[in-house]
Amino acid sequence: MKTRVIFVGIGGATCSGKTTLAKHLRRILPGSMILHQDDFAPPQEKIPVHPEYGVQDWDSAEGAIDWPRMIKTLEEVKRTGVIPPEHYSHDHLNEQRDIPIGSETFERWRDAFTRIDEEHRQAGEQLIWVLVDGFLLFWHPEVVENLDVRVFLRVPHDVLKQRRYERHGYHTAVQSDPEGTLWRDPPHYWEQIVWPAYVAAHERMLGGDVEHGRPSGSVPELILIEGLELKVDDMVERVCTQLVDVVKA
Ligand SMILES: Nc1ncnc2c1ncn2[C@@H]1O[C@H](COP(=O)(O)OP(=O)(O)O)[C@@H](O)[C@H]1O
Ligand SMILES: [Mg+2]
Repeated sequence: MKTRVIFVGIGGATCSGKTTLAKHLRRILPGSMILHQDDFAPPQEKIPVHPEYGVQDWDSAEGAIDWPRMIKTLEEVKRTGVIPPEHYSHDHLNEQRDIPIGSETFERWRDAFTRIDEEHRQAGEQLIWVLVDGFLLFWHPEVVENLDVRVFLRVPHDVLKQRRYERHGYHTAVQSDPEGTLWRDPPHYWEQIVWPAYVAAHERMLGGDVEHGRPSGSVPELILIEGLELKVDDMVERVCTQLVDVVKA
């Protein structure tokens, strides 16, 4: 049986709801897995210090992700359909408040994709869905190129800031300890680091205005979802409809 690996990119700012959406899709799509871009951050010792504010900058695109490692892993997963065993995720340590979806939505799509999966198997093809969840997903051209579907969740500044403030921290890698460490935002980290880095990485793709701009075309076939206007059910609906089209293509 041959395998067909489909990469579904779910991008958006920190706390925009990417992981929440990705986890619903993982439950719906048979043979699916999540790759978290957070797990491609360099170890804490290697995170650059911001030249002006003197704090570690986990957010500016150039230094926040080990891009060669991420691209190599994407290419390997695309080829093999398997996440390499040496890839370690800290996501299970991060706390997350569950935002449920209706059982009708869940079951209808779960059934639809189970049927699609069976049809493809009968035709000799195994489908593997890889949900790539990332806060800098559309910055590096080689990452963008690898994604088969590109979804961007946009949530307004004030909501993001509030959600980030409520979050108690992030588990991140350190070289000296395989379990990693807990990062908490220092004072003013949002205004000084997170938001400017988000704007810098996304303004071009949103026509110069991250809050209200339309997709400029710099990221091809970008699906923009206004994360505060849609219920999670409707987001699932929108993405699943798109995935049916992709798998038929
Ligand atoms: N659609 C939504 N409506 C309200 N709160 C949400 C929604 N999606 C996510 N959240 C909440 O926002 C926080 C961040 O969500 P998460 O999925 O972890 O974001 P990300 O992975 O983009 O950082 C969590 O506390 C989550 O429960
Ligand atoms: Mg997340």
